[in-house]
Amino acid sequence: MSQRRFLLSEDRIPDRWYNVAADLPSLPPPPLHPGTGQPVGPDDLAPLFPMALILQEVSGERWIPIPDPVREVLSMWRPTPLHRALGLERELGTRCRIFYKYEGVSPAGSHKPNTSVPQAFYNREEGVARLATETGAGQWGSALAYACGLFGLECKVYMVRASYDQKPYRRSMIRTWGAEVVPSPSPDTAAGRGILEATPGSTGSLGIAISEAVEDAATRDDTKYALGSVLNHVLLHQTVVGQEAREQLAMAGAEPDVVIGCVGGGSNFAGLAFPFLADKAAGRDIRIVAAEPAACPTLTRGHYGYDFGDTAKMAPLLAMHTLGHDFVPPAIHSGGLRYHGMAPLVSHLVHTGLVEPRAYHQGECFAEAIRFARAEGIIPAPEPSHAIRAVVEEVERAREEGVERTILFNLCGHGNFDMAAYDAFLAGELIDHELPQEELDRAAAGLEGLPPVPAG
Ligand SMILES: Cc1ncc(COP(=O)(O)O)c(C=O)c1O
Repeated sequence: MSQRRFLLSEDRIPDRWYNVAADLPSLPPPPLHPGTGQPVGPDDLAPLFPMALILQEVSGERWIPIPDPVREVLSMWRPTPLHRALGLERELGTRCRIFYKYEGVSPAGSHKPNTSVPQAFYNREEGVARLATETGAGQWGSALAYACGLFGLECKVYMVRASYDQKPYRRSMIRTWGAEVVPSPSPDTAAGRGILEATPGSTGSLGIAISEAVEDAATRDDTKYALGSVLNHVLLHQTVVGQEAREQLAMAGAEPDVVIGCVGGGSNFAGLAFPFLADKAAGRDIRIVAAEPAACPTLTRGHYGYDFGDTAKMAPLLAMHTLGHDFVPPAIHSGGLRYHGMAPLVSHLVHTGLVEPRAYHQGECFAEAIRFARAEGIIPAPEPSHAIRAVVEEVERAREEGVERTILFNLCGHGNFDMAAYDAFLAGELIDHELPQEELDRAAAGLEGLPPVPAG
């Protein structure tokens, strides 16, 4: 019988994070101040983040130690299992070997607590009493609510209206762990009030919710801001995923030919892929694939340049693939993938050809999620169904080429709170949103006058 799960004992939880910046041939250009257009320094970020996280954001060190109190909390669910997808392999009739790292075993049901816990910890260490944040699917909001509860911080979550309505139990989780949650756009901030006035029925977007949370943090002395993706320190915290996966694949006697993750802001993808990127940079033949929604095609159809991280232009300008800070994605069920921008590190890797982006419609992703659920038991969150769709495409490609490959992907969350989306799919009511070029051009008009990414 082939081995199905590869498990590490608690003492194998990584004791350091891997900083890919130390191994890249070139780095993305720095963030710019939204007001002055000059590179931001630690002092500019200090109203929003504790200094420990700011230093991680700009660090060039290859390894950054994980504090013991953080590892102690991570030990509640880490190391997470690596599964061989024997059921899916059988179902697809493939001789490719498919492995997935399963992050759905965390309390919030996704990879997000890997960074919410250290973020809450460092804020508490620096005397911060309260955190404000946004959430798309509710995964990040619930993960931060959980972490804030552990470290005795108050927490306010601005939840994108579309998800607030689609995912009532995510709201309940946030409240259960002791945080406050409001739909975004909300009347609680100037940014939210402005949007509500202009677009009373707005379904919201991550860009809008970020503006609200940043404003909340910037206007209160007791509050800082926490982001669930995009920034370097968030991607860094997720690298426990890939470090464990490398060790577990070695237990299986396997090396991946293809590594796949879905991308919203880039953090679960980076967490799995970055530790393998070092192998690729060292000359190993390994392909790294980022799967995004066709309804929010940041990497495949976006512009690579500087843009604001949020709609109200309060967050720093980041060098990234972007659809424009005014872009409001259709209300697809993968709420966590509805972001107009992308992590600068991931954008840079796509721009320099080290990462291949692909885009898929939600219908084909849900079809694969259902096939996966029936073959493997776990019901995936809508976001990683994009990764599963990419896995199946890789299997088909290997079949056409007459080769056998080892494929690794991140099953970054379960979909147990996403059953309304599954119901819609099973009832044939899920629609694929075609994005006409004119719509993208309209949103991209907001990028006019913003600096290009310097060549080289
Ligand atoms: C389960 C899940 N996967 C993926 C994402 C996308 O974020 P990221 O690209 O940072 O992993 C989210 C974000 O909310 C999520 O909840």
